[in-house]
Amino acid sequence: MRFDILTLFPEIFDSPFRASLFKRAIDRGLIEIGVHNIRDYAAGKHRVTDDVPFGGGGGMILKVEPVDRALQAVVPDRHSSLVILLSPQGEPFTQAAAEELSLSSHIVLICGHYEGVDERVGRHLADRELSIGDYVLSGGEFAALVVVDAVSRLVRGFAGNHETILNDSHSTGLLEGPHYTRPRRYQDWKVPEVLLSGHEKNIRLWRRRESLKRTLERRPDLLTRADLTEEDQIMLGALRDESEG
Ligand SMILES: C[S@@+](CC[C@H](N)C(=O)[O-])C[C@H]1O[C@@H](n2cnc3c(N)ncnc32)[C@H](O)[C@@H]1O
Repeated sequence: MRFDILTLFPEIFDSPFRASLFKRAIDRGLIEIGVHNIRDYAAGKHRVTDDVPFGGGGGMILKVEPVDRALQAVVPDRHSSLVILLSPQGEPFTQAAAEELSLSSHIVLICGHYEGVDERVGRHLADRELSIGDYVLSGGEFAALVVVDAVSRLVRGFAGNHETILNDSHSTGLLEGPHYTRPRRYQDWKVPEVLLSGHEKNIRLWRRRESLKRTLERRPDLLTRADLTEEDQIMLGALRDESEG
């Protein structure tokens, strides 16, 4: 899978892909990442990439021409690439969106900066606009990193054990339950006995119950959309009774 990132600040991407799972995935050829300076595609001696907004108002706007030229250079075939503009006004970037994007072989991410991006970039050059949350960042670079990370880890082989990814929070529609590791006891804090029992069925049931409990406590909104079995519904009913009683 390949990502190409168009940015005015390529140096922001100097280190994130040189560590941990990214380094391994890139070394093994699972993921390719190209970072391109939009300024290299700007016309004229001064390679101007931004300008004042028509109609007045503060701030500078990223121009459409250098973005268009950069896209022409990095997208060999428009039909097999997905071009995304990072924007606080875009559709929310969720786990479901990450799963959908992970089916693409080539994703191009356009990072805005300053006051924003000429509207024609989103309207005519990008296939989608994505927002990583209801807050405003100073630039799209950290949003691009979030998208690249969430999508890459869904590529088979990126994480050591792909099965664990399928149980992650949001992948199942629920939050994942708690994890523990050695030691069994630290200070007065003990590991739940069931996890030490070796009884697979009881451990599975406990994990599912904890996952439902945590979702009920922290993100009850997720329960309305989650795919719940009859067994889940019974556990959830008992958990609701417990919390009310
Ligand atoms: C300061 S913001 C521009 C905000 C714009 N004036 C507005 O009100 O919608 C500059 C750039 O940061 C990026 N950005 C900011 N917040 C973002 C978010 N929540 N998700 C994705 N990208 C974001 C976008 O690329 C945006 O063009």
